[in-house]
Amino acid sequence: MADRYLSFTGTTPGRFLTRRLGLPQPTALHRWSAEHPSFTGELLHLSAGKSPLDGPDGLAAVLDRTGLAVRARSERPVAVVLDATGVTDIDTLAEVHAALHPVVRSVARSGRVIVLGAPLDTADHHHQAAVQQALEGFVRSLGKEIGRGITVTLLRLTDANAAESTLRFLLSPKSAYVSGQVIGIGGGAEVTAPADWALPLAGRTALVTGAARGIGEAVAATLARDGARVLCLDVPGAAVELDSVAGRLGGTALPLDITAPDAGARILAALPSEGLDVLVHNAGITRDRRLVNMAAERWSSVLDVNLASVLRTTDALLSAGGLATGGRIVATASIAGLAGNAGQTNYAASKAGVAGLVRALAPNAAAEHGVTVNAVAPGFIETKMTAAVPLFIREAGRRMNSLGQGGLPVDVAETTAWLAHPASGGVNGQVVRVCGQSLLGA
Ligand code: NAI
Repeated sequence: MADRYLSFTGTTPGRFLTRRLGLPQPTALHRWSAEHPSFTGELLHLSAGKSPLDGPDGLAAVLDRTGLAVRARSERPVAVVLDATGVTDIDTLAEVHAALHPVVRSVARSGRVIVLGAPLDTADHHHQAAVQQALEGFVRSLGKEIGRGITVTLLRLTDANAAESTLRFLLSPKSAYVSGQVIGIGGGAEVTAPADWALPLAGRTALVTGAARGIGEAVAATLARDGARVLCLDVPGAAVELDSVAGRLGGTALPLDITAPDAGARILAALPSEGLDVLVHNAGITRDRRLVNMAAERWSSVLDVNLASVLRTTDALLSAGGLATGGRIVATASIAGLAGNAGQTNYAASKAGVAGLVRALAPNAAAEHGVTVNAVAPGFIETKMTAAVPLFIREAGRRMNSLGQGGLPVDVAETTAWLAHPASGGVNGQVVRVCGQSLLGA
């Protein structure tokens, strides 16, 4: 279902009318395309406090490799990176205001503001912890007020090189619908720079569940674009669509109900001898009812597809060595699992469970198998599922976020591809919302 309002506000009369009526004015977002794969223009590099990331092979070198023209001053930056890792007290926190206050208005449409902070557990003093935590309120508020399709993100890190894939993702059109997020780097698995940043998954194998349509199809296509050989899994009832997706991507179709007791064994049997590099748990269902009206079957079917099968297949693959060292697991949560939603006690329980799995398994999987475990938590994404939502609820879902529009399946797919990247070994145990900073949830 096309977002006609977004198209209308892109016209001159539409802009005039919606401004006069005080209605939301979403900006059409700049997304990745083969013709325009990256931003062009200036990256304004600012700092507050004395940064520990400075140094010959530090942040400046990583920013230079993004391809943007890094400047200390810029009239119209496409992106601003404010290094606030050196903010230790109220005075250095004021430098955050002093640095960004004069420049926020000049950031280009659909541009980026990225604030770098220190991990909270590295603070030497409670004042430092307080002002580093303060950056979260700052970033989330700026994301809500900046407008013009600009996203604002806080990245916590100690080593700029371990954050290179993340900085490249955030400083590209691939992260168009990720805003208001706090992402931590560190404590993960090995970081491997790819031979070719345009084909980071070359020679790797990825399995995507629920790949016959919607977000899963977009994930499989994006991982294939990045060079992966894709195994596309979906229920046997979707075999025709699945074959067509797998055929188009030069991959392999795996018609299989992920809740089958032998699903793990059948996946293992379908893998190449080197094992799997990327496992994307995307298959999911909803069976909405308020708890008073919810039959046990609605509860068990949702928990079985969305959580129990994720637990079972993850365990089966890890214990049998089915995931190669350097492997990546990306599961799919939902903002409904973080915020709660009337009529979705089953669905929200399953998706909160996914977030719990990710946080608990991540350190062990990295230590024992060299595998990272993260989740994407989509907000309102334009799919067949959301097209079936009644008009007014659909409009509310689309507009109630900082970007004033729904996301596209490709937004979730690009975020998954960043988490699946060989250089994203430092990103572990994160639940990253792809929601345009939805008003729902934290
Ligand atoms: P969709 O309904 O369009 O696609 C889901 C796919 O999973 C279908 O192809 C389906 O056949 C497959 N599937 C379902 N049960 C399966 C099973 N037992 N075994 C194998 N495959 C199975 O859904 P959509 O919108 O693409 O969602 C994908 C994921 O993203 C789901 O986990 C969903 O909960 C999550 N999500 C979606 C949001 C949205 O706005 N569309 C928002 C938040 C989360």
